[in-house]
Amino acid sequence: MTGIHRSIVILTGAGISAESGLATFRGAGGLWMGHRVEDVATPEAFARQPEMVHAFYNARRRQLADSAIAPNAAHEALVRLEDGWAGDFLLVTQNVDDLHERAGSKRIVHMHGELRRARCTTCDRGFAWLDDLGTDTACPHCARTGSLRPDIVWFGEMPMDLERIHRALQGCDLFISIGTSGLVYPAAGFVEAAPAARTVEINLEPTSRRSMFDEHRTGPAGTLVPALVHELLQA
Ligand code: APR
Repeated sequence: MTGIHRSIVILTGAGISAESGLATFRGAGGLWMGHRVEDVATPEAFARQPEMVHAFYNARRRQLADSAIAPNAAHEALVRLEDGWAGDFLLVTQNVDDLHERAGSKRIVHMHGELRRARCTTCDRGFAWLDDLGTDTACPHCARTGSLRPDIVWFGEMPMDLERIHRALQGCDLFISIGTSGLVYPAAGFVEAAPAARTVEINLEPTSRRSMFDEHRTGPAGTLVPALVHELLQA
């Protein structure tokens, strides 16, 4: 890593949570707990079979409560970078787990929502939710039952905070993509939305977007992210 950078945007995907024990989406042949994500992470699936979609997210939410699941060295290194960085810093994650927050990240955007939040489709209030959700769960605000959904962005829905993300990308001079396959847009296009940035991809293997990046670091995030953060904070 050369040169002095001022403004950093980081994008993370499921790969940064893999060493914490959370399965990635496409590593296991695209199946997640026996489901194809594209088959359950859609508004149509929820309208058709809400209990099946609730069960899919309840199992993943419960997994987060497992004491064996904890932030890893990559999550922790990003907190050191955020805390030690004098310039602008934004962490954009596609992940819906809370491992970045549990490590201490603060300037973070969950562009695909969060497992530990629910939203009411009647009163449109969003709120923290750690337990199972079902069609019989009453909204804590409007008391309606059958109208709660995971506060997750499904395929075909608009990701969160895209304006804020694009503003940060436009202004950054360092863009680091960690542990994402680069197959799902708009996140996969962020590397082309940071015109002034040096771009770095950290992944176990070359991704489909590899040619768009200035630099590639191939290996586990748990090893490579602490090393990169050390370089940046030393510069
Ligand atoms: N270190 C670094 N990279 C890793 C590691 C690791 N230990 N383990 C896996 N990876 C890489 C894989 O090589 C792969 O490129 O992480 C990537 C995970 O890719 P996906 O499973 O496709 O996950 P992601 O890119 O986050 O998916 C994007 O798709 O299903 C939707 O909304 C969901 O946010 C998700 C989006």
